[in-house]
Amino acid sequence: MAASSYFSIIALIFLTINLNLCSAATTGPIHRPNGRNTRFIRTSCRTTLFPNLCFTTFSKYSTRIRGNPRFLATTGLSLALNTTRSATKTLATLSKRHGLNRKDAAALRDCVQQLGNAVDELKDSISEMSSTRRGNNKDFRFRMSNIQTWVSAALTNEDTCMDGFSSAGKHKINERGFKIIVRGRVRRVGRLTSIVLAFVNRYVAATTH
Ligand SMILES: *[C@@H]1O[C@H](CO)[C@@H](O)[C@H](O)[C@H]1NC(C)=O
Repeated sequence: MAASSYFSIIALIFLTINLNLCSAATTGPIHRPNGRNTRFIRTSCRTTLFPNLCFTTFSKYSTRIRGNPRFLATTGLSLALNTTRSATKTLATLSKRHGLNRKDAAALRDCVQQLGNAVDELKDSISEMSSTRRGNNKDFRFRMSNIQTWVSAALTNEDTCMDGFSSAGKHKINERGFKIIVRGRVRRVGRLTSIVLAFVNRYVAATTH
């Protein structure tokens, strides 16, 4: 494994991350912070495992969410889907590059498959969500419990992907750098999904008690 190809892989990941950030900045919603809407995001984020990441991510959408637990859940699902999909693409590109050792290449391919499943589960959740109407009835509870199941499954897929990159092992420094970057990217996707699961649970609790 030549050091230079690990460098180019690392450069590619950074480039992709930056491109994503740029497009998020230019296509994101125009917003004017409003006390009540922002407070709602802050309060909702406190019930998640990652309150800071949650707040910095979702306060951008506070006017779109407008203090509504359903909009919080749907925006969260949409963002989790977009983030997971873009990570999948990056990892798929990486897995096809020459110069990876066989073990890393195999771990990446497994990861792409796991993340692909997560993408499908998040897509299904979004379409299930769009066919629910608010209300404490059997159909609503059934569909919401499907969504809870699928988002949990997506989270499991993302954790499984991470596992392939968890062994620190005896690596050359550049290989270690490559793993750390892939792990960082997938970890972010997993944290976001965990936040969204909390939003979905919160919406169910607020609607059906
Ligand atoms: C996710 O991507 C879709 C299509 O590109 C876009 O319409 C949507 O607003 C994005 N979701 C969020 C929460 O940014």
